[in-house]
Amino acid sequence: MLRGYQGASIYVTDMNARMLQRFYDMGIRYITTRSVGYDHFDLDKARELGIRISTSPYSPDSVANYSIMMILMACRRAGQIMDAYRMQDFTLPGKRGKDISSATVGVIGTGQIGRTVLKHLSGFGCRLLACSPHEYDEAKQYARYVNMETLLRESDIITLHCPARENTYHIIDEQAIRQMKDGVILVNCARGTLIDTEALVSGLEAGKVGAAALDVVENEYGLYYNSFVRQPMANRELALLRSFPNVYLTHHTAFYTDEAVREIDENAVRGCVLFDRGEPNPYEVC
Ligand code: NAI
Repeated sequence: MLRGYQGASIYVTDMNARMLQRFYDMGIRYITTRSVGYDHFDLDKARELGIRISTSPYSPDSVANYSIMMILMACRRAGQIMDAYRMQDFTLPGKRGKDISSATVGVIGTGQIGRTVLKHLSGFGCRLLACSPHEYDEAKQYARYVNMETLLRESDIITLHCPARENTYHIIDEQAIRQMKDGVILVNCARGTLIDTEALVSGLEAGKVGAAALDVVENEYGLYYNSFVRQPMANRELALLRSFPNVYLTHHTAFYTDEAVREIDENAVRGCVLFDRGEPNPYEVC
């Protein structure tokens, strides 16, 4: 597909040094990723080869609203209730949930998505805390900015909306989980590497973490967006997570709405055209 072209548009796929070199050897000089995150690129290698990369931004509503859905599903034990219903188990034990309106929700990262989560959550009447290196006036209308320690200590529900960077790698580790409230609900619709999966599994085993809702997991590349029906899957951490009834897993689908896909596709093509014309590309990251 790539041979004979200078530009390519890709999904979230592992663009390591080898892959970039192959793209380069086939003549590709610019790549637009159909995502806002770009941590799947080896940026140093891209710079070395002179391959330019841009993202395809889109409305934060899709991911923000999906995150709120995940919060509500975990709070109300939606998975257990729906599984039981399928078995015609209409009893109540094990299905009692927690009401979001009386909870304190901590939002880590108040960029586009985090701020939208805060705005939309404010309608539920819950107490909102936020933590982010940059504080936005818009977020202050709905939430109180606190430091990470306070957010971890006071939140009943914690939702992550910061990018995968070196300084956010495993920001939720054993020590962070230890500081959280007993029975905390942890939601991650950002990037898998933000959470140390082993620490999360220990937290779930100990009952410290009451529920987790994860649209992203560590080492999801190569698994998510492929079918493994009737095949073994090489990801032990994921297998462990799947064994918990109070863990909600989806395969990086938070963004996936008609509206978002339309915007993503338009911006991906726009990015390629701008590169091709040599015009400035506002979404260029390298
Ligand atoms: P953004 O760049 O607008 O916001 C990220 C925010 O995180 C910034 O305000 C930044 O200051 C903050 N941040 C950075 N380091 C932090 C730290 N150590 N602690 C707390 N906050 C920190 O990005 P946007 O559009 O809001 O997206 C957030 C993330 O969501 C993306 O980076 C991407 O990884 C993820 N995402 C996931 C999707 C999915 O389908 N599950 C789809 C789209 C994005």
